[in-house]
Amino acid sequence: MKKTRHFLSLADYSREEMVQLIERASELKQGLKTKAVTRPLEGKSVGIIFEKPSTRTRVSFHVGVLQLGGHAILMNSKDIQLGRGEPIRDTARVLSRYLDAIVIRTFGHENLEEFAKWSTIPIINGLSDLLHPCQILGDLLTAREAGLDIFTMKASWIGDGNNVANSWINAAKKIGFSLKLACPEGYDPAISVDGDNLTLVRDPFAAAEGSNLISTDVWSSMGQESETEVRKQHFRGFQVNREIMSRAGKPCYVLHCLPAHRGEEITDEVMESPQSLIWEQAENRLHVQKAILEFLVA
Ligand code: CP
Ligand code: NVA
Repeated sequence: MKKTRHFLSLADYSREEMVQLIERASELKQGLKTKAVTRPLEGKSVGIIFEKPSTRTRVSFHVGVLQLGGHAILMNSKDIQLGRGEPIRDTARVLSRYLDAIVIRTFGHENLEEFAKWSTIPIINGLSDLLHPCQILGDLLTAREAGLDIFTMKASWIGDGNNVANSWINAAKKIGFSLKLACPEGYDPAISVDGDNLTLVRDPFAAAEGSNLISTDVWSSMGQESETEVRKQHFRGFQVNREIMSRAGKPCYVLHCLPAHRGEEITDEVMESPQSLIWEQAENRLHVQKAILEFLVA
């Protein structure tokens, strides 16, 4: 029996596959502009399950499925039996008999792995506490469109060593670009920062030095709301602001996966500056996710 392919982590994808997905996303983006009709998901249904809030992932996956000619079913986990404790292994086997793929946003990454273990249809990670692979694929497309060479660029991460940072590390390990992360002590990424192209420092200015692409994210992720005040203390000095940007390379662009807490991890000024690729970055979620759906489902 053919083994079902999932999209849980960039670590499961080769460098060639990642580049292929980015290039296909670019083609699909162009195709949308020229009104080219691509309906590889005709007659297919994709379930989209959320255990956490979402704006971009929810809407971009929904619209992406529709644009590819498929049908999307959005589910809040509280509204299905999963939220009342129906085991994942039962839910996964039942949904596999109705649907052609499932996008899931959950807390523990092991929930996604359990889904993937029991499912006979592709499971796509729409964010877990550990990883956010769709985000980074879109971010790489954004970097490429801005003219950066994704194989040789100098990228930086300033802030929490969270799910988004972990997926940046996975991408750097496969693609080979330089990634310097600055995280406060106690907030290191869960994915090991090993490899000649990866560095972890404590000083955000050292991470920004010579960088072509600075990324950041909220200091308290979904599920960490009770730590907000203490985290604000620990992340003092880790704001992406004019001073940080003045130390960066030329060119240097800024990314933020959104939602942002303006005035905390990033200033209004930097978000609205010409160096900010944030809105293109949000749009590119749609295009890369369509490429992922086409790759796994069509
Ligand atoms: N960046 C991102 O995943 O946004 P949402 O939480 O709005 O989906
Ligand atoms: N690190 C953030 C990303 C949101 C898209 C979170 O998990 O809440």
